[in-house]
Amino acid sequence: MPRIEDPRPLEDSPFLDYRWPVLRTTPLGPHRVPVERTFLDIFESRRSTRELGAAPIESLVDVLRLALVPRFWKDGDPLRRSRRPALSAGALHPISVLLLAGTGAYRLNADESALEELSIKHEVRANWLHKCKRVLPSADGAFIVLIADRARPAAAYENCESLVWRDSGALLQTLALAAEAYGLGFCPLGILGNEIVDSLPAANQLLAVGAAAIGLPG
Ligand SMILES: Cc1cc2nc3c(=O)[nH]c(=O)nc-3n(C[C@H](O)[C@H](O)[C@H](O)COP(=O)(O)O)c2cc1C
Repeated sequence: MPRIEDPRPLEDSPFLDYRWPVLRTTPLGPHRVPVERTFLDIFESRRSTRELGAAPIESLVDVLRLALVPRFWKDGDPLRRSRRPALSAGALHPISVLLLAGTGAYRLNADESALEELSIKHEVRANWLHKCKRVLPSADGAFIVLIADRARPAAAYENCESLVWRDSGALLQTLALAAEAYGLGFCPLGILGNEIVDSLPAANQLLAVGAAAIGLPG
């Protein structure tokens, strides 16, 4: 196996954010916070749930917001470093969460607090959902794809890829805890989401780094 080299910080260099194929942007309304529970209760209760039913999209978006929306920004930082519940190398948070729910595909634009409906071909979406269902046949809820935009990590680090993979694990855990906080079921999938990335324009800037099922626990 080829050895993965340590990342090395660079002088922050110029970069171009990935431009998502957005059909419609909806600003996020009020955030329904979860019912108060102790951190220990949520921490100890989280388990992967494989029998899942469809949850209202508003509840799914609430989970994503709890996990993803920045709490602080680094002032005047060209790389838009931010603080959120998840760990992220260099505070870059380069991973977007795509939600395939109902008949739509959405991205939570955490930077701008908006929900974007994306243009993803029906056939690509259907094939990918079919693949998810082969992995988790009892999951009838929504599916999540984690997709990293390499632009900012590559501008900040040489050998940035391992950082993105480690961010993906941290984000998955954070999403699982956020789902638990809202009483929703969550289960990671071993598949990555490459089929979704391959169908997007300028896909070589993106990296599919994980998937999960989310919904009402069965
Ligand atoms: C990266 C990753 C991929 C996973 N892939 C699958 C999967 O494909 N199918 C599945 O049933 N569980 C999957 N899981 C869930 C694990 O099986 C589960 O976390 C583990 O059994 C521990 O159980 P717990 O999450 O309930 O504590 C995955 C977990 C991770 C972190």
